[in-house]
Formats: sequence, structure tokens, C-alpha cells
Amino acid sequence: MRLLALLLSLLHSVLLVSAAANPGPCSGACTSLVHDPALIQRTSDGTYFRFASHDGISIHTAPSISGPWKRAGSVLKGRANVSHKNAGDPWAPDVQKVGDTYYCYYSVSTFGAKDSVIGVASSKSMNAGDWTDHGSTGVSTGANKGGNYNAIDGNLVAAGSKLFLTFGSFWDGLQVVDMSSPTKRGGGDVRNIVRDTVVKGNPVEGGYIFPHAGKYYVFFSHGSCCNLKNVKPGDEYKIKVCRADSATGTYVDKSGKSCTKGGGTVVLQSHGNVYAAGGQGVFNDPKHGPVLYYHYVDRKINPNAEDGRKSFGWNKLSFEGGWPSIE
Ligand SMILES: *[C@@H]1O[C@H](CO)[C@@H](O)[C@H](O)[C@H]1NC(C)=O
Repeated sequence: MRLLALLLSLLHSVLLVSAAANPGPCSGACTSLVHDPALIQRTSDGTYFRFASHDGISIHTAPSISGPWKRAGSVLKGRANVSHKNAGDPWAPDVQKVGDTYYCYYSVSTFGAKDSVIGVASSKSMNAGDWTDHGSTGVSTGANKGGNYNAIDGNLVAAGSKLFLTFGSFWDGLQVVDMSSPTKRGGGDVRNIVRDTVVKGNPVEGGYIFPHAGKYYVFFSHGSCCNLKNVKPGDEYKIKVCRADSATGTYVDKSGKSCTKGGGTVVLQSHGNVYAAGGQGVFNDPKHGPVLYYHYVDRKINPNAEDGRKSFGWNKLSFEGGWPSIE
């Protein structure tokens, strides 16, 4: 009997551990238009807004992080206000509130090419039809523009009274630059904060800086987001984190390794039915505390890992010991 009890308790803890790592509940529209999600709550009425790539930056709303999520139109009507051949298909939103205004950063690019611009739209309500598209933030790259980085995946972070935009994908990795206002780049240099010098191609992107308890945490996606059928298992997206004392770095991982030299501590990687989690952000949920949210392939409903059928995932984050982990 004692052996049986021991086995049962072992089984119980194994189940608990794997259950804890599964995404939190989601109802309603959880499996369409969730690529590179951005999550924010409207302060006036508590409505949750979820933004995602494509369709003019799609908007979904819900009364809680668990849903039920409903489609609520798009940020942009027609083409983004930037001169680029792909201005009709903005990606990778990030939405932050500064003062009484919400700002939606979006990327216009050519997939796999360093030919990109980060634009921004603003709204006081976040409702579809109530956005003003200010066009380019001044963060762009391409022929004769910028450095050897890709200007996509923008994320605005406030550090004291200063604003910074982190961005970047592959090439020279993740960068940070000061902003003179929520809509315009400042005069400072672009600084590299994350670079994988070990894995070929430097596959880091989707940076999201989360200030917490006096530290700055940059969460990022490592590996391949897309065309997953052709990606070797293990090379797909996973979510990593680095930490610094200021928004601009220097960032190191949990083992102390510099994040511009290949450092990065894994927070979430493929497990069970969850595959290629990434495109993440962190949100302070009034009910759950800090939450890591992301898109992923749910192997149960998307066995062929089709790009257009990603699922919305979220987990509570603990910062015990000064490093984030999934609860
Ligand atoms: C596009 O952006 C420019 C510069 O940011 C701004 O002056 C203009 O009003 C914008 N146009 C539209 C249609 O929003």
C-alpha cells in the first residue's frame, strides 16, 4: 500500500508539473489571427484587447484574458501610412499606453528581407475606426537606411521618464533606440542588446522588454516562426529571456552569460501539444499578475503546423528568485 501511495503521489506531481505548463484557458476566437499577439487592457472599462499580424492588424476583445474573444475589426483601414510595397499587410503589433493614448506599433516588411519600417498608429479608445496612422517612427532599414539590422517587431518601453523602442530580427539581432516621443525616434544610437553568436543566422526576434521590481527583462523568440513543416524539430520558436539593470542593457542570462554573445535563458519551449511558442509579450493581469502570452501551434488541432492556424496561449509568470518561470 505504501508503494502504491508513493507511486500515486509521484504520478500526481508529474501530472501537476505538465498541467501547470499548459496554456491557460481560452474561449471564443483563440485560433485565428493570433500571430504575434499584443495584449492590453483598456483602463476605462477593463476590456481586454488582443492585436495580431495581418488584416490591417486585427483586433479582438474579451472581458478577460480567457475570453470569450470576439473579432472587433482592425487598426488600419487599407494600406499603412508608409512608403513600402507591402504597406497593405502590416505585422507584429505592439500596443502600449502613454498618458491617455494607446499606441500601436506595426511592421511593414518583406518576409526574410532586411527591407522594413516600423510605423505607429494612435487611439484614445482602441476601437476599430478610431485610430490615426502616423506612419513611420523613423526606425527603418533597407537600401541606404539604418544598419545591419531588420526594423521589425517594435516594442515600446518606458524607463522612468524615457521611452525606448526595441526591435530587430535575425542579422544583427535585437536593438534598442531612444524615442523622442511615442511616435518618433530620438537622436541616439541604435544599441544591440541580444545576439546569438552561436547559432547560425542569429535567429532572435520579437523582443519585448518588461520592467519588473527594478530590473528590465527582455523576452524574445529564438528560432523559426514560420514554414514550420520545413523546420527541423528543435529549430522552431522557443521563448527566452535576459535581464539588465537598465532598459538599454547590458543584458545577461540566468547563468551570467552576455546576451550579445549567445546568452538567453529558456522560459517556454515545445512540450506536449504546444509547439513553436513565440511572438510573445508580458502583461500585468489584474487577476493573475504577470502573464506571458504568445502564439503557438496546438498539435491537437493543427497537426501540420500551418502558419495561419496558430493558437493564443498564456501562462502565469513567477519572478521568484529574480528570474521568470511559467507557473
Ligand atoms: C501619414 O503620416 C504623416 C506623417 O507622420 C501625417 O502627417 C499624415 O497625416 C498621415 N496621413 C494619414 C492619412 O493618416
